[in-house]
Amino acid sequence: MEKVRYGVIGIKGIGRAHIQAAQANEQIDLVALVDVDETEVVQVAGELGIGAFTGYRHLLDAGIVDAVSIAVPHHLHYPIGLDFLKAGVHVFMEKPFAIRVSEADAMLAVAQKNNLKIAVGHQYRTHRSSQIVKRLIDSGTIGATLRVLWMWGEFRPESYYHRDIWRRTFQYAGGGVLMNQTSHDVDLICWLMGKPVQVSAMVGNHLHEAEIEDIVCANVLFESGAMGSLQFTITHPRGYSIRQIQGDKGIIVMPEVESLTYDQDEEILVGTYEGPLTEMVTELKGIVDQPAISWRSYGLKQDQVQEKIAARILRRLGAVKRPHKWQSNAKPVNGFAVIMNSFIDAISFGGEPLVTGKSARSAIELINAMYLSAMRKKTVDLPLNSHEYDALYEELVKGKLQVPRFRS
Ligand SMILES: NC(=O)c1ccc[n+]([C@@H]2O[C@H](COP(=O)([O-])OP(=O)(O)OC[C@H]3O[C@@H](n4cnc5c(N)ncnc54)[C@H](O)[C@@H]3O)[C@@H](O)[C@H]2O)c1
Repeated sequence: MEKVRYGVIGIKGIGRAHIQAAQANEQIDLVALVDVDETEVVQVAGELGIGAFTGYRHLLDAGIVDAVSIAVPHHLHYPIGLDFLKAGVHVFMEKPFAIRVSEADAMLAVAQKNNLKIAVGHQYRTHRSSQIVKRLIDSGTIGATLRVLWMWGEFRPESYYHRDIWRRTFQYAGGGVLMNQTSHDVDLICWLMGKPVQVSAMVGNHLHEAEIEDIVCANVLFESGAMGSLQFTITHPRGYSIRQIQGDKGIIVMPEVESLTYDQDEEILVGTYEGPLTEMVTELKGIVDQPAISWRSYGLKQDQVQEKIAARILRRLGAVKRPHKWQSNAKPVNGFAVIMNSFIDAISFGGEPLVTGKSARSAIELINAMYLSAMRKKTVDLPLNSHEYDALYEELVKGKLQVPRFRS
């Protein structure tokens, strides 16, 4: 099997994790790096003994890659991704997959036409806690889902926006906490809860100078009938997030609140009701009788071999045909490597990456719908009218419409 000739575009931030994951995969021949920072790219590529480019088009023209990682600011995901797909190159896009669902659709259409793979860097799906929750839901342990409560909070001081100016605006970042930090959470929510069909949201800016939002509150209806209340903010210190998913037979409580963001030791509490609520609602005779709940915890320790977990994930999902040994050369496996390896397997042997462009599209659609709902002050039905969002986005970029700023 020939190696996949690989390039990484954008190398100073998370691009480093892509370089490391590529180096650790024996199916990959890392041949080039691209960055507008010439000093940096020449130095890093020189250390690795590979090609250095200061513009992605030069790499395209050179015709030396089969696949690339795109780890650049958000507004560049679409133009760079599209150009590589048009040139017949597979892409591993950093999150968010795109700023607008219309951009995601354009990339998906070209990928389908050219028979190419798109992977997206939503590595939270690979984390142990996410995998446990997914298993608990899909196995029917908590029954049909009825509701989700999901609050994610971390703090970002102004220095965060001073260091990386592109994160401050709709034009370059596509949004604030919702598009940036919690596109991961929205991706997880869609992956766990299924298709959203309706959303009503508010966005605001309580603390920051930047034009984008630092808080979002949204109510979401899913196709299953489950309802969700979501809050995302960068105005509260890390460590107090709350996540619950309730079904007809039980409830999942994630008390180790950072573990979806950071793959670490986790304990997940699962409460099972004495019977399905659909039966309890008529069986309990006292007017305020409560169904009994029995609790158990599920945990995975950090010292358990992640490689095994990664292999189990792929086997269970049937995501790839994998005739060779899983990831024999990359230890420890982190989320980026898990996705990258599934991406390379899909290119080499068929199947799909662990996080596909198609599945990551759902998060972009819901995020766009939340902005539309919040800025137009209305309930939005999905599938989203992408033209309507594109028109709103133009207004946000031009500053014709602004995120409400609330100051005490
Ligand atoms: N999956 C994750 O958990 C995760 C974590 C951090 C960042 N990200 C995502 O990765 C992307 C990059 O974020 P970051 O934090 O690394 O940003 P960053 O600003 O630290 O790095 C971006 C890099 O892209 C380079 N760059 C800018 N314009 C370029 C161009 N036209 N051509 C080539 N290179 C160019 C910059 O010089 C820089 O090296 C974003 O989409 C971000 O959301 C994902």
